[in-house]
Amino acid sequence: MKRKLLSLALCSVMAVGLLAGCGGSSSDGSGDQAASADSVAEAEEQISADADAGSGELISVGFAQVGHESDWRTASTQSCQDVFSEANGYDLSFVDCDNDSAAQLEAVRSFIQQGVQYIIIDPIVSTGWDQVLGECSDAGIPVIVIDRTIDDSDNYTAWVGSDFKTEGLAAGEWLAAYAEKQGISEINALVIEGTNGASAQIGRTDGFKEVADANGWTILDSQDGDFTEDGGQQVMESYCKSYEGQFNVVVCQNDNEAFGAMTAMDNAGVTYGVDGDVILISFDACTAGLQEVQKGTINADFECNPLAAPFVEEIIQTLQAGGEVESNEVYVEEHWYALPDAIVDFSVNGVAQEMTEVTDEVIEAQY
Ligand code: AHR
Repeated sequence: MKRKLLSLALCSVMAVGLLAGCGGSSSDGSGDQAASADSVAEAEEQISADADAGSGELISVGFAQVGHESDWRTASTQSCQDVFSEANGYDLSFVDCDNDSAAQLEAVRSFIQQGVQYIIIDPIVSTGWDQVLGECSDAGIPVIVIDRTIDDSDNYTAWVGSDFKTEGLAAGEWLAAYAEKQGISEINALVIEGTNGASAQIGRTDGFKEVADANGWTILDSQDGDFTEDGGQQVMESYCKSYEGQFNVVVCQNDNEAFGAMTAMDNAGVTYGVDGDVILISFDACTAGLQEVQKGTINADFECNPLAAPFVEEIIQTLQAGGEVESNEVYVEEHWYALPDAIVDFSVNGVAQEMTEVTDEVIEAQY
């Protein structure tokens, strides 16, 4: 289509050039030739730009999103829809898989049938992908994985996301430094995990546990809260009954679980946060999470950056231009947040970490 438009345009420019050559008054023929070459180049550029922006030339992208379980997820979806908009030259097929792995595989297969040019997957769980990725590869469709990882196949073009184990390690190392500062010698922690089998759950669980083991802390329990507010509340309600008076740390693997856990602790009369009996740690650092940090209800929040889409677009544009993807693993930048009293020095795997103080401006700029 683009080629056809281009040849039509070149024909018209050449026709104008020929007419100008026949009837023109210039005595220097080379000037006309140069002007004509410039016009052809300009017309080529213009037509190419028009064709890219025209509906016939939209780049088709299928995105199999995890679901809509959290504020983080809403921000991730919004970012993809903003980046892969028609105005930007894309035709996005978006499927909310509602945290159902079978539905996610089905969505990917439907993208193959539609013949989309690119497929983006945020894998609900990290395994079970080998077969369908083979089908994408057979169909010649590049797959870009975002956020969570796929751990049983590397048959995809690139991955853009977070280092979840580092997030978990950071939370643990922060707790060790903060507890020391507060003179707390014994840690009895309750963990509310994310969706079982998601790499975000696996990495955060492993990272925190590694530090807990190294420091001799007790993890009283660690259950799945499915990354939702309801899930966090239900698990915390049962923890409050089973471990009444026994815990001094609660780790929620995302902000929405933390909101649910706060409701459960409020109802059970458990105090938490900077003035409470329980240290509350969360992940994501979405706007509402940081507002809780500012209020002092969440002691520290470890960011998970949902803005992968701009990096994915760069990859797609590189492939569109016939280039090769330089790096097939892109880690998004992330920060650790607290109020000044809880900003402590710590390192992760020997690398000193910086913490960010939560202020109005920081909240304003967050997703
Ligand atoms: O995979 C990223 C995680 O999934 C985020 O921490 C959570 O909020 C989301 O639902």
